[in-house]
Amino acid sequence: IICPSMIVNSCNSSSLIAMKSKPQPPVFPSNFFFGTASSSYQYEGAFSSYGKGLSNWDIFSHEAGNILDGSNGDIAVDQYHHYLEDLDLMEDLGLNSYRFSISWARILPKGRFGNVNMAGIKHYNKLIDALLHKGIYPFVSLTHYDIPQELEDRYGAWLSPKVQDDFRYYADVCFKYFGDRVKYWVTFNEPNVAAIRGYRSGIYPPSRCSASFGNCSTGDSLEEPLIAAHNIILSHAAAVSTYQTKYQKTQGGSIGIVVNAIWFEPISNSSKDKLAAERAQSFYMNWFLDPIIFGRYPVEMQQILGSQLPAFSRKDLNKMKSGIDFIGINHYTSFYAKDCMYSQCEQGPGVSRSEGYYLRTAFKDGIPIGVTTEVDWLYVHPLGMEKIVTYIKERYNNTPMFITENGYGELNNPNSSVKDFLNDYRRVEYMNSYLDFLALAISKGADVRGYFAWSLLDNFEWISGYTVRFGLHHVDYGTLERTPKISAIWFKQFISNHSNLA
Ligand code: NOJ
Repeated sequence: IICPSMIVNSCNSSSLIAMKSKPQPPVFPSNFFFGTASSSYQYEGAFSSYGKGLSNWDIFSHEAGNILDGSNGDIAVDQYHHYLEDLDLMEDLGLNSYRFSISWARILPKGRFGNVNMAGIKHYNKLIDALLHKGIYPFVSLTHYDIPQELEDRYGAWLSPKVQDDFRYYADVCFKYFGDRVKYWVTFNEPNVAAIRGYRSGIYPPSRCSASFGNCSTGDSLEEPLIAAHNIILSHAAAVSTYQTKYQKTQGGSIGIVVNAIWFEPISNSSKDKLAAERAQSFYMNWFLDPIIFGRYPVEMQQILGSQLPAFSRKDLNKMKSGIDFIGINHYTSFYAKDCMYSQCEQGPGVSRSEGYYLRTAFKDGIPIGVTTEVDWLYVHPLGMEKIVTYIKERYNNTPMFITENGYGELNNPNSSVKDFLNDYRRVEYMNSYLDFLALAISKGADVRGYFAWSLLDNFEWISGYTVRFGLHHVDYGTLERTPKISAIWFKQFISNHSNLA
């Protein structure tokens, strides 16, 4: 812990830097990746120029009432035009990697029903080349929530098995044009969140929901999230097998998937609550990782959902055998899990058959699991980092892992000055403590190979619009000026103290 408490005024930047600049023994493996993460819709802007097609998020964000502040990602932080400036910021921090996503609709404006947009190829080529020129490795996600709207309009995208051909085709185009230089590929970012929010609560596109969870009137099928997930898993497998059969030998890269990973702590020591925490993991994260790594849905899902759960055909299983080279972990927070299968528990979000009969809560006897923040879902519980990494290590036989996101959000309070935002000691304390527990997990044998902070810049935070800031750099949304916060200065120092590049 750097500041004596979360009290900002008790800690100033010079004491902070002084404390952190003491050389410490490296606790991260050699060639560990330190980077920042971003995504196309949240960063790029240029939403309808240079041949880009419209994405599901372009359509959704333009519909009144979907985004808290009525904003959208039309401009976002305009990284499309500012990428060279942003690369300078990365270089200044001493980053050796940058995680970003390709906008599918920029490459294939009409999915596989139209041409490849060569302006899009050119743009990402320039970005990749400029990164490599600075010695920064690109970690590239093929999708980070945004997909061509064309696929929604034609056949309901993830609800149709046809989407598997689209994703395979798109992935092939990306491997072909960029794979000579990109050595780390991610098929999907947080498919668990996309499936739950797109098809259960309905708060993300395509706004479909189950009556028992959301307040929208479309969808109303408990099975839709399961079908969407099934098609995502098979699309992932199609991309991985394409990579393996056509490109991996010559290009020599690796390919994985990124999940949102919450640590679920049993609310009591009872075996019921321990089982509830297991079910929570299975219904939230293992839902995707188990099929990809073991070729079947988690046992708890099979037991509870029975024939509601889509089945994998022999052909599917064959395709899925390709597995993955690494697991990407987006970890921010922890919750308690409380049993609702063997005991009564109050009704509320998260208590239902399709969620696996557990209650997700941040409070035990009125006390939160971690320090509360201005962001309603974000509780600071650094021990959760060690626990989730260890859990994934044990369950998946220490498959190589990357922390593909970890970060701290603050409300974009209109009464705060830029100076207030720059003095982000809470973000420093958050990252420092999570990194400590990550180092501990690694020292106990977890094969974690990199850490990406979310995020280099403040940016468009999905349905929260610009009301939440996650950046190591402040962005003035009027001028798009980027200014390093204390956390950027701290992260730079941290990296220089801890990297051990061979
Ligand atoms: C995870 C998502 O991948 C990213 O897009 C989002 O901005 C962060 N979480 C923060 O909520």
